[in-house]
Amino acid sequence: MRRRHTFLAAALLAGAGFAAAPAAAQGSLNLYCSVQVEWCQAIATNFQRDTGIRVNMTQRGSGETLAAIRAEGQNPRADVWFGGTGDPHLAAAEENLTQAYTSPNNAQLHPWALAQWNQSNQRAIGVYAGAVGFGFNTELLARKNIAPPACWSDLLDARFRGEIQVANPNSSGTAYVVIATLVQLMGEEEAFAYMRRLHPNVNSYTRSGTAPIKAVARGETGVSLSFVHDAVTERNAGFPVSYTTPCEGTGYEIGSMSIIRGARNLTQARRFYDWALTEPAQRLGFEAGGQLQTPSNRAAPLPPNAPDLGRIRLIEYDFAKYGRAAERRRLIERWDREVGSQPR
Ligand code: G6P
Repeated sequence: MRRRHTFLAAALLAGAGFAAAPAAAQGSLNLYCSVQVEWCQAIATNFQRDTGIRVNMTQRGSGETLAAIRAEGQNPRADVWFGGTGDPHLAAAEENLTQAYTSPNNAQLHPWALAQWNQSNQRAIGVYAGAVGFGFNTELLARKNIAPPACWSDLLDARFRGEIQVANPNSSGTAYVVIATLVQLMGEEEAFAYMRRLHPNVNSYTRSGTAPIKAVARGETGVSLSFVHDAVTERNAGFPVSYTTPCEGTGYEIGSMSIIRGARNLTQARRFYDWALTEPAQRLGFEAGGQLQTPSNRAAPLPPNAPDLGRIRLIEYDFAKYGRAAERRRLIERWDREVGSQPR
């Protein structure tokens, strides 16, 4: 409820901002957004209020957005792509679908956000970070007498037969981070053998990266492979959800932002980019959207009860390698062939 009130208040303020600075004079911005829709809406509303620039926002998963930007390559519809996992932003940079930009606000960011900027030749920048783990429904598992998973190896156990949900890597950046994490932890052959053995325990490969944790919250599945900040969002909304991070170590995302090559509203795109890196804009994720990622602006506080990445056993995720377009395509095709298309 609290969130809804905040959002309504923001919407009303946006109306007031409009009256003071007519949108027509300021132009408009076409925004592709790959975080949860509540945050996307809060960003659109607040940026519009702060600048008078009218925002047309489309929310889609990271893999789906990359596919759209590719398809529109010659005739881009979007100006900026905000959020979603970092690997597809790196692939877009490599494929010359996005353009370099140096924001005056870069100096306010954590080194990991700038590392993303450097390795993309200034085309993608980190806006948040989050770690992969296991979300689970505490009541459902207790009722079925299933002990929650603590390690990747636990997920293969027969007690999780048909009990796990994870997204499809073709559409979801989250699911690709899971695959890349397993490959880095185990080596490629073992990782694919692991995913084939996990397959009977998976009841569905969803389109969106957050669908599995929402299914956990509703009690439709016991366990999800998710970004653990999304598990806390569900718990804060009152659902019996908890999470663990894998004992063997886990991967993480540098949620990113890019300006599209050929953006028709370049001035507005840069203005948005600068704005999105500021501390007040980065607070919005939590304050208006209930999101609990680690913000990339050093002055933006870690939201209360957000997972602390410093306390999670993280692998040294090789963003340069797994963000490469050909590597991403190859691993997803292999997953389609050997895992996703197999009978259960
Ligand atoms: C959620 C998470 C983000 C993540 C995004 C990826 O919104 O909170 O941290 O970047 O999902 O979505 P996707 O559907 O591409 O997996």
